[in-house]
Amino acid sequence: MCGIVGFSSRTKPACAPLVNGLRRLEYRGYDSAGVALESKEGIKVFKKTGKVAELDRLLKESLSDAEQEGFTIGIAHTRWATHGLPTVENAHPHVADGGGLALVHNGIVENYAALRAQLEKKGCKFVSQTDTEVLAHLVAVFDKGDFLSAVSQALKKVEGTYGIATISKRHPGEMIVARKGSPLVIGVSDGATVVASDVSAIVAHTRQVIYLKDGDVARVTPEGVDIYTLDNVPVSRDVQAVEWDAESVEKGGYEHFMLKEIFEQPESLRNTIRGRLDTVNGTAILAGLGLPPRDLASIRRAVIIGCGTSLHAGMAGKYLFEALADLPTSPEQAAEFRYCNPIIGPSDWAIAVSQSGETADTLAAVRESIGKGALVSAICNVVGSTIAREAGRGVYLHAGPEISVASTKAFTSQVTVLAMMALKLGRTRRLSREEGLGLCNEISSLPDLVSEVLKENDAIAAIAAKYAKVDDMFFLGRGILYPAALEGALKMKEISYVHAEGYQAAELKHGPIALLGAKTPVVALLCDIPGKEKTVGNVQECRARKAPVIGIVTRGDEEAAAHCNDAIFLPRTSPFTAPVVSVVAMQLFAYHVARIRGCEIDQPRNLAKSVTVE
Ligand code: G6P
Repeated sequence: MCGIVGFSSRTKPACAPLVNGLRRLEYRGYDSAGVALESKEGIKVFKKTGKVAELDRLLKESLSDAEQEGFTIGIAHTRWATHGLPTVENAHPHVADGGGLALVHNGIVENYAALRAQLEKKGCKFVSQTDTEVLAHLVAVFDKGDFLSAVSQALKKVEGTYGIATISKRHPGEMIVARKGSPLVIGVSDGATVVASDVSAIVAHTRQVIYLKDGDVARVTPEGVDIYTLDNVPVSRDVQAVEWDAESVEKGGYEHFMLKEIFEQPESLRNTIRGRLDTVNGTAILAGLGLPPRDLASIRRAVIIGCGTSLHAGMAGKYLFEALADLPTSPEQAAEFRYCNPIIGPSDWAIAVSQSGETADTLAAVRESIGKGALVSAICNVVGSTIAREAGRGVYLHAGPEISVASTKAFTSQVTVLAMMALKLGRTRRLSREEGLGLCNEISSLPDLVSEVLKENDAIAAIAAKYAKVDDMFFLGRGILYPAALEGALKMKEISYVHAEGYQAAELKHGPIALLGAKTPVVALLCDIPGKEKTVGNVQECRARKAPVIGIVTRGDEEAAAHCNDAIFLPRTSPFTAPVVSVVAMQLFAYHVARIRGCEIDQPRNLAKSVTVE
């Protein structure tokens, strides 16, 4: 979704770092971009709909190299439209004070209509349909000489969420930033202070960062940062080291981030598993969970909450928790969670799954669960993210930055973490040491199993070429492979725009089978685990309707392959490793279909990496 970058230096040019910072945030999804630069004469604003490259072109057309290098302070933004169309007028930065103040904003001002009406009465002129423009005018109205306190007073009027950065010609050398419900990170490097809504826009400058907390407002200067509460009380925030380096957010020779991230999975899984398996006692070591065995043993029920791919991981978690730990578990779609009076209390375990750790609906569900007294844990990838911090305990994926909007390596790491949680939980309940040791072996084999799947890339690309032009597809799975089928279908629709539906294999005949025919290929998950024979039966039902079937089959299982028109062969798995291994094949299948169709794979239309609105 929207992205913020700010740069403040005495001597270093700001233009290039601002534009490059926006490029790092492109993966979040956006539809316009803009930049505001501070000079002695005032603030200059440049905005463009479309890609950051368009904005860069506009800057080059409008300013000579020497002029560009003269600006050392600026703010920049990528906007993903919420209030108003993606137009130049609605793009950020928004200005007030006759163009003397510029402001960028992530989040939503819920009471913007009332604030706008009040400001219009005071004579403020609005040029956009956005909620953000009221913030710019509010700050200008409150500015009586102290920029920071003007921002604080303005923000006190706001209902909703914000991450903001603002500059004003009345306060040269000062940038004010603040956050509530929308992340903001500050990096202090040699000769410059860099601000961004996401560390990936900062790591090119420094890996020492400060994460602002909700309610913080900070004065950023070329020399550093002073942080206050909205009531002007100074606060100190720790400087933290970012593990990711600039190189790890580059494409590394791959055509797309998505392909790079698919191929990183043996490594990302190794990082997820490292140090977490106790191969003496046959259990998992998940210190961040902070739940002693006594608490684990007394949990009555688990709910696993997430959105999109993270929800599918949670659905696989249900099978793992119930099979290995006899713990009744329900996956919950985060956006619905608080609308159905969730019956959750002190003996229930709410587990929030979120790659970004910023998804608004998942965060709201975490708050609801904390409010109802449940034990709450998070499974996040982004360290220091809001969900990770608010949950207070949990397990990080350590999968490295995921840039492609379509999630891949996060899913396989999420399911792996859930498997380790199920193992730990199972050992406090019913699993023997021997059974635990067997599971440790299976989990440790995952990186190698995934490497085996990646070797099938060319074969998968060839099958994708046969089916790339269809309009509809179905994905079928049974048991723990049902969530994997949902995830395979989600990947397909996200990046290739082929209409794809995931179904529990037997459910197909309760309606969707009416749609089957020669132009509706079916991807069937036929890994050789319990339930396979029944899915083979469902495949025959599809073939009888002339639907071509692409089987995802265990290598050597020629009998299952014989029922399919095409087969993608996978290494042998257990029921517990099958969802991870089979999803990798479907990620590659979706990738190649999208590539052949000429789609924008890393930034699919209308999608955002991190959905921070409800
Ligand atoms: C967006 C992304 C999906 C992701 C979902 C949940 O819709 O496009 O790829 O699965 O958000 O994100 P989270 O960061 O909470 O896992």
